[in-house]
Amino acid sequence: MSDAEIRPARLEEAEVLAALGRTTFIDTFIHEFGIPYPPEDLAAYMDASFSAEATRKRLLDSSQVWWTASIDGEIVGFANAGPNTLPHADARASHAELRRLYIAKRAQGRGIGTRLLTTALTWMEAHTDGPLWIGVWSGNLKAQRLYAGYGFTKAGEYKYPVGTWYDDEFILRRG
Ligand SMILES: CC(C)(COP(=O)(O)OP(=O)(O)OC[C@H]1O[C@@H](n2cnc3c(N)ncnc32)[C@H](O)[C@@H]1OP(=O)(O)O)[C@@H](O)C(=O)NCCC(=O)NCCS
Repeated sequence: MSDAEIRPARLEEAEVLAALGRTTFIDTFIHEFGIPYPPEDLAAYMDASFSAEATRKRLLDSSQVWWTASIDGEIVGFANAGPNTLPHADARASHAELRRLYIAKRAQGRGIGTRLLTTALTWMEAHTDGPLWIGVWSGNLKAQRLYAGYGFTKAGEYKYPVGTWYDDEFILRRG
C-alpha cells in the first residue's frame, strides 16, 4: 500500500492538475516512449488537454469525476473517469470510461496508480450500464499490465489524435 492520500479533486486544483498532466505526458510519451510528435501538434494538444482552463471546464462537468493522490500535501497523481467516449461498436455513452490515470514519474512504482485505479473502478462500476472501457497507447505495456490485472482485455484499436498526429491506441474492456 502507498502512503498517499486519495481524495476527490477540487476546482482550485485545476492549474496543478494541468501542470502535472503536461509533465507526465511529456515524460511518458516523449522522453520514455520517444513518440516523434510534430511540435505544433504537441503544442495544440497541450492547450486542448492540459491548459488550466480546459482542466477547469472538465472539473466543472458533473458527469465526470477526478481524484488526486497526494504525498505530504503535494499532488503526485490523478485519475479521471466519466461517460465512455471510445469508438467501439459495443460502447455507449452510458458506459463508464477511465479517461486518465497519471502518476508523476518520481512517484511511480509505489502503488499509487493501483490505488487511484481501484478508486476509479469502484465509481465506474456504480455508474455504468454495461462494460467498463479504457483507451491506452499500444506501446504502453506497463499500463496495459496494470489494467490486465484488474480484468481488462483488448477489445479493439483506434487512432487517438494528438493535433494532426495519430497515436495507435488499444481499446480495453472489462465486462
Ligand atoms: C501506468 C501508471 C498509471 C502506473 O502507476 P504506478 O503508480 O506507477 O503503478 P503501481 O506502483 O501501482 O504499480 C506498478 C507496479 O509497481 C508494483 N507495485 C505496486 N505497489 C507497490 C509498492 N508499494 N511498492 C513497490 N511496487 C509496487 C506493481 O505490482 C506494479 O508492477 P508491474 O511493474 O509488474 O506492473 C503510471 O506509471 C503512470 O502514470 N505512467 C505515466 C502515464 C501513463 O502511462 N498512464 C496510463 C495511460 S492510459
